[in-house]
Amino acid sequence: MDWVVQSGSGIRVEWGQAGARALGPHSAALVVVDVLSFTTAVSVAVGAGTAVLPYPWRDGGAEEFAALSTDVRTSLALSGTERIVDIGCGTGQFLRTVRDSGHRGCLVGTDIHPAAVAAVTALDTLHAFQADALHLPFPDADFDRATAMHLLYYLSDPAAGLAEMHRVTRPGGRVAVTLNQTATAPRLRALVAEHAARHGFATRPATQIWASAPTTATPLDVDSAAELMRIEFGHATVWRRDNALLFPTPGSVLRYADVLARFACGVPEDSPHRQQIAHSIGGEVRDWFARHGGPWRDPKGYTVLTAHT
Ligand SMILES: C[S@@+](CC[C@H](N)C(=O)[O-])C[C@H]1O[C@@H](n2cnc3c(N)ncnc32)[C@H](O)[C@@H]1O
Repeated sequence: MDWVVQSGSGIRVEWGQAGARALGPHSAALVVVDVLSFTTAVSVAVGAGTAVLPYPWRDGGAEEFAALSTDVRTSLALSGTERIVDIGCGTGQFLRTVRDSGHRGCLVGTDIHPAAVAAVTALDTLHAFQADALHLPFPDADFDRATAMHLLYYLSDPAAGLAEMHRVTRPGGRVAVTLNQTATAPRLRALVAEHAARHGFATRPATQIWASAPTTATPLDVDSAAELMRIEFGHATVWRRDNALLFPTPGSVLRYADVLARFACGVPEDSPHRQQIAHSIGGEVRDWFARHGGPWRDPKGYTVLTAHT
């Protein structure tokens, strides 16, 4: 059936007022389906037991954020009354999901960035302190649970960061740390590395991209972080979540390639090579889509490391 003229069927489907006007004169009966408003749809979903997680960015990562947040809450074995600190809390996304799940215990965020602290403080019922993760402004054993999500790579001394988490968590409590798995999008990473190298840009190992001044003997990745957890807590539970990024169009691949060129290969934003690299990667990516049709699938995952205190 030609989907535009919708011939070959006794039923035609249209959308909006223009559609109704077009169909009306030629139809024996016109059935109007009124789609629920967004707010009503959310109320119905929540009434049926669905959790709504705040996620403000339009970058396709909402699903992963929801899974990560749920995994961390599960790993913390919360009863609903624990006093929790989230170190390197950013804008408080995780604490919000905990609060919105009905948690009644005190929720505290810390971050080194004043803007992050201001964003969290502006939220009802959450508390935030500006502090370096290596020097937390809390007494020993002040919390029942401590989390550090996607933070450890930024610390000059990740082992000291874990020791500080340990110090502020009471005996019998729990800590959870999350890290991205080392090789996010290895296919695209390899392609970007190859093209950037032709312009003289060397790729930094994925494990070193975010570290400000690593002092550990090996760069921080999931295995070395798990080892640091075992040294600090005597044990660690490692929970790997393997997933993948799906890029539906060449344009979506190229936007991510540009980010990788900058962060993984150090191509400056204003470099004349940036356009050339993007152009040559674009040719290969478009060829690939022409042959395979898409989507471009590239592995990405995260790990939750948990320990008892
Ligand atoms: C990748 S973001 C993660 C934010 C949040 N935990 C999340 O998962 O969405 C890393 C955060 O760590 C903070 N940060 C970096 N170095 C820090 C340090 N030494 N002490 C505390 N926070 C730090 C940054 O300001 C940023 O908010």
